[in-house]
Amino acid sequence: MLAKKVRAAVFPVAGRGTRFLPATKASPKEMLPIVDKPLIQYAVEEALEAGVSKLVFVTGSSKRAIEDHFDTDPELERALTEAGKDDVLQTIRNIVPSGVTCIYIRQGEPLGLGHAVLCARPAVGDEPFFVHLADDLIAGSPGCLQQMATAYEAHGGSYIAVENVPPENTSSYGIVAVDTSDNNRVTQIVEKPAPEDAPSNSGVVGRYLLAASIFDKLEKTGKGAGGEIQLTDGIADLLRDSPVYAHSFDGVRYDCGSKLGYLQATVAYGLEHPDTGDRFRAHLLGLADTLRK
Ligand code: UTP
Repeated sequence: MLAKKVRAAVFPVAGRGTRFLPATKASPKEMLPIVDKPLIQYAVEEALEAGVSKLVFVTGSSKRAIEDHFDTDPELERALTEAGKDDVLQTIRNIVPSGVTCIYIRQGEPLGLGHAVLCARPAVGDEPFFVHLADDLIAGSPGCLQQMATAYEAHGGSYIAVENVPPENTSSYGIVAVDTSDNNRVTQIVEKPAPEDAPSNSGVVGRYLLAASIFDKLEKTGKGAGGEIQLTDGIADLLRDSPVYAHSFDGVRYDCGSKLGYLQATVAYGLEHPDTGDRFRAHLLGLADTLRK
């Protein structure tokens, strides 16, 4: 099957991040660091691994930090060169490889994730594209987007990443029903249903590979749950005339939009990091002993 290669990734980063105030008052939550890299850089690295060459950031009022992060900084580079800090210099120089374009689009008001994705239309054009929500950090190799690209190259269609969520938590997620006899094709998707209304406990997480026809659907999508224009409602419309598949990814997801998930990610990544792993493990073991007493 000859599927068009996915060349663009959209990063909606215009949400208010109210669960992380005051940290997110002047800086988007996607700039929160896990050990030494902001969430948005993990997101970009996952997209680059999946082969994209166009990074589209849909930004809100506090967009400066993200633009600055992915821009070159000649003054900092000069200072690092003079200080002989070549390792760090390479690290900051290689954040965005050459040949990769960054595009910033302003979402005037945070009207919802569906609206944020629609704002990216002029930059994406008539091509399939990824949507990556950086506050859902997924540790996995290959990364979740690469896994979805592989499935897409084999079968075509659109993809949504899913994982099982506790039945009592369905009202925090988009929930899907699938046809397991047809490659987990999505038959229904509902935004944040109460447990008694949920068609399953398969919850949508922040990775999508979408056909460009989603834009026409989002143009017509009105306000849904929470008074916002929901991507879920656009996808509900899309799956009426185009195949959408649920992708159960290999990897561990951390909900870094919540304080607890953010702390769990920090611990997991801190244990794996070459600069901190051994000493952090020793510290945690000591802490566990103290807590047990
Ligand atoms: P969330 O549902 O996590 O909302 O958005 P939020 O506003 O960022 O966070 P809380 O709930 O107030 O703490 C999911 C993703 O969609 C983006 C967010 O930046 C986040 O990556 N988003 C949401 C937008 O870009 N625009 C919107 O209008 C809404």
